[in-house]
Amino acid sequence: MTREPQPVVRRVAVVGCGDISALHLAAIATVPGAQLVAVCDVDAGRLDAVSTATGVPGYTDLDRLLDEARPDVVHLCTPHHLHADQAIRALERGIDVVLEKPLAHTRAEADRLVAAAEHSRAKIAVCFQNRYNRPAERAKELLDAGELGAVLGASAIVPWHRTAAYYEDRPWRGSWATGGGGLLMNQAIHTIDLVQWLVGDPIAATGSIATRALAEVIEVEDTAELRIVHAGGATSTVYATVAGVANLPVTIDVVCERGTLHLGAELTARFDDGRVETTVERATASGERAYWGVSHERLIQDFYAGLDEPGAFWLHPAEARKAFDVIQDVYDDAIPDRVMPTPDLSAPAAIA
Ligand SMILES: NC(=O)c1ccc[n+]([C@@H]2O[C@H](COP(=O)([O-])OP(=O)(O)OC[C@H]3O[C@@H](n4cnc5c(N)ncnc54)[C@H](O)[C@@H]3O)[C@@H](O)[C@H]2O)c1
Repeated sequence: MTREPQPVVRRVAVVGCGDISALHLAAIATVPGAQLVAVCDVDAGRLDAVSTATGVPGYTDLDRLLDEARPDVVHLCTPHHLHADQAIRALERGIDVVLEKPLAHTRAEADRLVAAAEHSRAKIAVCFQNRYNRPAERAKELLDAGELGAVLGASAIVPWHRTAAYYEDRPWRGSWATGGGGLLMNQAIHTIDLVQWLVGDPIAATGSIATRALAEVIEVEDTAELRIVHAGGATSTVYATVAGVANLPVTIDVVCERGTLHLGAELTARFDDGRVETTVERATASGERAYWGVSHERLIQDFYAGLDEPGAFWLHPAEARKAFDVIQDVYDDAIPDRVMPTPDLSAPAAIA
């Protein structure tokens, strides 16, 4: 009698039961062997709703969850100022981590997390899920294959819209202390990551930021423009805003010696010899998901599939740091006398 191999059982917890947690919970449900054992939030209403819907215990304190529910993997879907600290608490216990972007809210916290990840036996993924979008993957394949010749640079546009209510409902998003920045850290970071992934490692960035539409609601930027210099000399420019009239598709145009790539909802590759190749996404999405991308599930499945393999997951904190450092360079350029307020990390977790 032959038996199907049984998947390894992994005990999983989700921390932060807000907007993005729904995508994590849905993705976890597709992973063979992944067993949700606990959820955590400091907001009693959100915690109760998700705990009831999933049928697992809810915790208001991360340390208690880690000690009592003993997860093998923890998904961190919390505000930015908590990312590095919560991830380090899990890594130090040898617990694998799926961390929402950005890896941290300050350079000092990013340093701490990169070091902790390097010293831990546990694995960590940072959610740059758009690298798993099929058109983006194909763009990377074409550039790596070299047929388009040297990459000269890229031009990217993020023309998005966020309402005042988006920030009023979640005040952490509009504050330097808890968001670590605004549009760049929260939205445009995905596009900046794709640009640097496709064009090459960034070595310097300059730029400016402004709060064009939402100054009465947020202290962080809602608009930015920047220029990246990549290793090898290519240069890229990015214009990004959430002060637009609607959420329109992000575009990245990559210029190469022997052709161009236009990456939008789909990829169009134009070779100088006249060939044109189009690559479409595997699945379509609507509403906000169309803008978050459809690939959380693929990233999360890939992470779990490699947990027993040696080595770090490819989207580890040092890799996620490349786009983060571009943003920090822009902030340094735009507001050189910036002093990051120190958030009180103990306050939210103490509600337990
Ligand atoms: N990858 C993507 O495309 C994508 C899309 C949206 C959001 N995000 C990221 O996901 C994260 C969460 O964003 P969101 O929009 O879901 O925010 P949210 O405010 O809706 O959810 C965050 C949740 O964390 C909870 N929380 C706060 N302090 C906590 C603590 N100490 N312990 C446990 N829970 C705590 C809050 O009460 C809230 O319910 C952010 O890092 C954001 O950048 C990523």
